[in-house]
Amino acid sequence: MSARLVVLVSGTGSNLQALLDAAADPAYGATVVAVGADRDGIEALVRAERADVPTFVVTLDDSRDRDHFNDRTLTAIESYEPDLVVLAGYMKILAPRVVERFPTVNTHPALLPSFPGAHAVRDALAHGVKVTGVTVHFADAAVDSGAIVAQEAVAVRDDDDEDSLHERIKVVERRLLVDTVARLARGGYRIEGRKVVLP
Ligand code: GAR
Repeated sequence: MSARLVVLVSGTGSNLQALLDAAADPAYGATVVAVGADRDGIEALVRAERADVPTFVVTLDDSRDRDHFNDRTLTAIESYEPDLVVLAGYMKILAPRVVERFPTVNTHPALLPSFPGAHAVRDALAHGVKVTGVTVHFADAAVDSGAIVAQEAVAVRDDDDEDSLHERIKVVERRLLVDTVARLARGGYRIEGRKVVLP
């Protein structure tokens, strides 16, 4: 049985592409059953369409308010009956009732709890850290604060700017996300307080 993934995106979708590529192999153990976005006209949606994966777009602008936006997003997700929801570069903050409805993981381009938020790579560089990285974590009621599933470090180089560092982080991120989603999809993980134990 392949686990059903709904992947939410907001931009380029290189992490989505890594999941689509991995899931093309039935042995991967998970299938992307839908891709949802918070805006239209993004490369991630083109990637989904190219892979013949159904898409949905729910924008804040087309919603009465945030509550309605969350309702519509949740209804769209529910219609695909996912086993796991993956936030892969999704830049909207969803209400707890949305991220708690199904197991939901987010990938973040820093070593949480350092540098949460929308500008993690910029913030890490500005702080002068020598090592940053990637975190895959469960989404919960607060921003970038849920239990950590997997992390991997990336060294910062003296001549890095935001783009060069983010590109190197994303190379590690795609591999870590693909591997972590497979392990979660297999089931049998435990969450003990803040600690996630993978099979
Ligand atoms: C990824 O690096 C992801 O960690 C980051 O956006 C990028 C999306 O890349 N997400 C956040 O910063 C969330 N706070 P992609 O569209 O090429 O997958």
